[in-house]
Amino acid sequence: MSRLLSGQVALVTGAAAGIGRATALAFAREGLKVVVSDIDPAGGEGTVAQIRAAGGEARFIRCDVTREAEVRALIEGTQAAHGRLDYAFNNAGIDIEKSKLADAQESEFDAIMGVNVKGVWLCMKYEIPLMLAQGGGAIVNTASVAGLGAAPKMGIYSASKHAVIGLTKSAAVEYAKKNVRINAVCPAVIDTDMYRRAIEAEPRKAEYAKAVHPIGRVGKVEEIAAAVIYLCSDTAGFTTGIALPVDGGATAV
Ligand SMILES: NC(=O)c1ccc[n+]([C@@H]2O[C@H](COP(=O)([O-])OP(=O)(O)OC[C@H]3O[C@@H](n4cnc5c(N)ncnc54)[C@H](O)[C@@H]3O)[C@@H](O)[C@H]2O)c1
Repeated sequence: MSRLLSGQVALVTGAAAGIGRATALAFAREGLKVVVSDIDPAGGEGTVAQIRAAGGEARFIRCDVTREAEVRALIEGTQAAHGRLDYAFNNAGIDIEKSKLADAQESEFDAIMGVNVKGVWLCMKYEIPLMLAQGGGAIVNTASVAGLGAAPKMGIYSASKHAVIGLTKSAAVEYAKKNVRINAVCPAVIDTDMYRRAIEAEPRKAEYAKAVHPIGRVGKVEEIAAAVIYLCSDTAGFTTGIALPVDGGATAV
C-alpha cells in the first residue's frame, strides 16, 4: 500500500474510542500530525497520549459535531495549528435505538440524525473549503452496512447511514474535478464499546453477530483503520464516491 506523506495533517472525529481512536493511531503511524476530536475530552486526551507515547504528534480539540459553531472552531483550530488539512475521517456516530420503528421516540430520531447525518454534513461543509484552498485532500465518512440495507430495530440508524452515503456520493461528484476525493467506509459489526454495549444489553447478540459475517467473527477496529488509510492514500487516487463495505462478507450473502 502506498503510504501517506509524512508531515501531512489528518482530522478524526469520534476519536476518543473505538474505530476513531484506532484510525487516529494509524494516521500517526503513517507519520501524520493528527487532530483528535470528540465530545469526550478524557477519551480524546487518552488517544493523544497513546499517539505521543508511540512517538507521534497529536492534539485534542473538543467538538460536538451537531453544533455548527463548534465544527467551524474545530476546522479553524486545525488551520491555526497546522495551516492545512489533508485528510478528514468524519466518524463520530451514535446508535441508541433498540426498537422497531413504531416504538422509536422522536428524541431518538433527532439525536441519531443530528450526530450521524448533520454532523457529517457540517464537518464536510467546513473541511472542503480548506481542502479546496490548498489544492486538494481526501475525506472518508463512516457509514455502515446498515447504510446499504435493512437493519431491524435500528431503522433510524439505518436511515442515517443511508444518508451518510448520499452525502458522500453527492459531495464526491461536486468536488471530483477539484482534487478532493470523498468516500465512505461501511463497517459491519466491529468490536468497539458500541458493540460491547449492545452485547451487554442483549447477550445472545454475540453469537448472531459472529454468524452474520461469513468470515465467522466480528471485525477489528484496525481493519477499519486500514481501509480508511487506503481510501486516503494515492493508491485510491481513482476512487471517489464509493461506499466500501469492510464486513467479513456480510453484504455478499
Ligand atoms: N462498532 C460497530 O460495530 C460499527 C459498525 C458500523 C458502523 N459503526 C460506526 O462507526 C463509527 C464509530 O463507532 P464506534 O463503534 O467506534 O463507537 P464508539 O461509541 O466506540 O465511538 C464513537 C465516538 O463518537 C463520539 N461521539 C458521539 N457523539 C458525538 C458528537 N455529537 N460529537 C463528537 N463526537 C461524538 C463518542 O464520544 C465516541 O468517542 C460510528 O459512526 C458508528 O455508527 C460502528
